[in-house]
Amino acid sequence: MVTGKRIVIKEALQLKDFGSEIVVKGWVRTRRGNKNVAFIALNDGTIIHNIQVVVDLSVISEEILKPVTTGSCIAVKGQLVASVGQGQTVEIQAKEIEVYGTADPDTYPLQKKGHSLEFLREIAYLRPRTNTFGAVLRIRHAMAFAIHQFFNDKGYYYLHTPIITGSDCEGAGAMFQVTTMNLNQLPKTQEGEIDYNEDFFGKMTSLTVSGQLEGELGALALSGIYTFGPTFRAENSNTPRHLAEFWMIEPEVAFNDIIDNMDLAEDFLKYLIAYALKNCMDDLKFLNEMYDKELIERLQFVVDNQFERLPYTKGVEILIASGQKFEFPVQWGIDLQSEHERYLVEKHFKKPVILTDYPKDIKAFYMKQNEDGKTVRAMDVLFPRIGEIIGGSQREEDYDKLKNRIEEMHLPVKDLWWYLDTRKFGTAPHSGFGLGFERLILFVTGMGNIRDVIPFPRTPKNAEF
Ligand code: 4AD
Ligand code: MG
Repeated sequence: MVTGKRIVIKEALQLKDFGSEIVVKGWVRTRRGNKNVAFIALNDGTIIHNIQVVVDLSVISEEILKPVTTGSCIAVKGQLVASVGQGQTVEIQAKEIEVYGTADPDTYPLQKKGHSLEFLREIAYLRPRTNTFGAVLRIRHAMAFAIHQFFNDKGYYYLHTPIITGSDCEGAGAMFQVTTMNLNQLPKTQEGEIDYNEDFFGKMTSLTVSGQLEGELGALALSGIYTFGPTFRAENSNTPRHLAEFWMIEPEVAFNDIIDNMDLAEDFLKYLIAYALKNCMDDLKFLNEMYDKELIERLQFVVDNQFERLPYTKGVEILIASGQKFEFPVQWGIDLQSEHERYLVEKHFKKPVILTDYPKDIKAFYMKQNEDGKTVRAMDVLFPRIGEIIGGSQREEDYDKLKNRIEEMHLPVKDLWWYLDTRKFGTAPHSGFGLGFERLILFVTGMGNIRDVIPFPRTPKNAEF
């Protein structure tokens, strides 16, 4: 049995006191060698790099080493020595090895290197053990941490908005219903409709698509708040940029207008990307090398350059004048597709773009209406490779205009009375936006498919693990 205090490999690789005895634990990435000496590459996920364990077979018997194969989990006690091999400064000369868990080479799915991302999606329960997913998950953590840091430094408060809700924030009707009723025996009203009075909450409820409406209640009391939680959308979009369950960050700030809102979004994204460049370089270098040779350069470019800001109408003019053949033809009033967004960002401006003042008919009911009667004070931040990464707006703070818009759009006023009330009691100009967390991670990691930046993706027909 290996005893003694374990040191994580991230720290072990920094040690300089050669000759000292240390204990490391982790999963075997590879094992090679001959009948005199074995080399084990050990990884514990704390850092992308492995530590090399050198085993003298006259010290540790072949019998003990036999189950030490790729994927097995071991503890090693040994002496820290300076490495003669390239690419590492320290290694361990093993004195004792204990095997915690074996991994049968005939059935362990990650026995060989270089699996496709598609294959790894099928074994999502094991893929965190690969270099790629280790890197992605560590960056994901760093971004979550930086998000809290950014808002905390600004004095905004983290508001926990409900996951189960009785209202549809985006009004798009793409919600997952939540019920405890027996679906084989639904209680009916006299009119023959489902009787939600009998359901757990006594009304129809769903998983939230956004924490915004409740976020506004917080902002109209605490000035600046942000939410950071899971959101759910039952849209049947099988694209590399859509998930049915994704995480969203939604700041909401009293007294901010649309310009303040754009400034906040731009500062926020630049802060997060700069944070990754400063704190995640090992993982970024790996992803840059393996998947996307321009990744680090692109991240630096976004940090260093001002985003282009222009109204939707101007953007549409540029798209029409471009002469470019799009799958979806462009005219004023359409909801821009990712091909249009990416044309503006990647071909025309060659930098991130913030489009504002969209036609009101393609945007949600809560956005502040412009004087022209046709557009609303919306803003979408468009990024290279991603398209829309942030969607937000200044909010309609006028009670009558808001109520009219809800009715015009045939949304249920009765479910939104509490939201409308905020416009009756101390209403204030305010703005906010939502950043799709996985879209941010897509951008920062350079990965191509959103299913590869969340540990357990939820997409149509996929919720196995
Ligand atoms: O533009 P959306 O729908 O805006 C809202 O939900 C507002 N309530 C936000 C606000 O103003 N507080 O979504 C915001 C962002 C998008 O820009 C996108 O990055 C991401 O959420 N997003 C998705 N990410 C992954 N999968 C999906 N199905 C997504 N739908 C939206
Ligand atoms: Mg949007």
